[in-house]
Amino acid sequence: MDSTMGGSSWLPTSKIFKDESKLQADYIPRHLPFREEQLSMLREYFKPFLLKPGSVFVRVLLLGSVGTGKTAVVRRFGEDINGAKLAKGASARFAYVNCHAHRTLFSIMQKIGRDLGLSVPRRGFSREELLMMIWSYLKNSNEYLIAAVDEADYIAHSEEEALYVLTRLTEMVEDEVHRVGLVFVFRDLTFMMSLDRSIQSTLQHNIIRFYPYTSEQLEEILLRRVEEGALYESAVSDEVIEMIGELVGYDKGGPGDARLALEILYRAGKYAESENRDSILPEDVRRAHSDVMPFPKDALSNLKLDEKLLLLALARLLQRKKFVSKVPMGLLELEYHDICEEYSLAPKKHTAVWECIRNLSRMGIVSTGKPGKGQKGRTTLIGLPAIPLKTLEKELLLSIREDLSSGAAERGGSESPA
Ligand SMILES: Nc1ncnc2c1ncn2[C@@H]1O[C@H](COP(=O)(O)OP(=O)(O)O)[C@@H](O)[C@H]1O
Ligand SMILES: [Mg+2]
Repeated sequence: MDSTMGGSSWLPTSKIFKDESKLQADYIPRHLPFREEQLSMLREYFKPFLLKPGSVFVRVLLLGSVGTGKTAVVRRFGEDINGAKLAKGASARFAYVNCHAHRTLFSIMQKIGRDLGLSVPRRGFSREELLMMIWSYLKNSNEYLIAAVDEADYIAHSEEEALYVLTRLTEMVEDEVHRVGLVFVFRDLTFMMSLDRSIQSTLQHNIIRFYPYTSEQLEEILLRRVEEGALYESAVSDEVIEMIGELVGYDKGGPGDARLALEILYRAGKYAESENRDSILPEDVRRAHSDVMPFPKDALSNLKLDEKLLLLALARLLQRKKFVSKVPMGLLELEYHDICEEYSLAPKKHTAVWECIRNLSRMGIVSTGKPGKGQKGRTTLIGLPAIPLKTLEKELLLSIREDLSSGAAERGGSESPA
């Protein structure tokens, strides 16, 4: 709309996102760092199928928890092989089925047929007919299909038999030529129990495992996504990336789930955007994180008084220093002393304060770290990545008041006031 006409503008104005679609779940990034090995194993397993088309029935199993890159790897592999020229004028095709959406053998076959470009009737067909239709299409067009059966845990639960049929597809159609290879994607191995021994042992030899990502790996994945043009580089600081890595990294007690890390980045970006800022702040990350993983309320009420006072100090300090995600221990202690004075309480000694920090860190409430490159000092830095500071401050003030009025403030070991 012309701005002179006084209408609202619907031009994209984000100062945060360059291309939001690159953060969506269905986007397959150009690079899949830390998954080169899995990708090349997959290629290796299918080499005989592709080099001597029809000679072997290849079935591979991808195994790993949520957000470890299984779908991304299999789809990247599929994109690379789809349409590839094979020996004797044959060519390779790829089909992708997500069993969350397609839970029966019939529905799986339908999706495969559609991916091959066949017009698949919705009804009036048995699944055997559907299978034969796909098979004869492949035969007539001299194509060899690799089908990915993703989130196969769902069919294992709803239609065990589907898995049985799929794992012995060539036998089912009574052909000598193996026209189809399969990649099954599972979260865990419980489904194996439903298969018979011989299939179990075949599959067991073709497992590719996906491990949860560490904080460092997640940081790299997020940085690469920024470089690929999802967000403006100026909108995302190292602090923000590090915070997300810390919250989600497997080595830091998180799930190691790349999808979660990307979602936190996306939501944090949305918060920054909604306030018309041009960069994401640590507080945006805290809000984003508590949206996807709400912090249990009673966790705070179980803390000791001095832990609450320390957290209050940290929350206040971090609200004043809103561009950094962590503050030096020395500064935190000073703030804590101020707060104790406010409540006319004697502050704990340095060693006791450390003990509080260690507890809070064990509970996943605070994070600790050393200054990074380019920062000076050897002091420990303390951060609070998981809970929005304003909410936390409010809760703490209530809880501290309650402690003090109920006389539950038995503290012991206090330093006598100067
Ligand atoms: N190694 C990686 N590099 C870049 N992005 C990744 C990587 N692993 C996962 N992702 C991204 O994280 C999200 C979750 O990955 P996905 O493959 O869907 O996990 P899974 O299928 O194991 O649950 C996707 O958006 C994917 O693009
Ligand atoms: Mg997946």
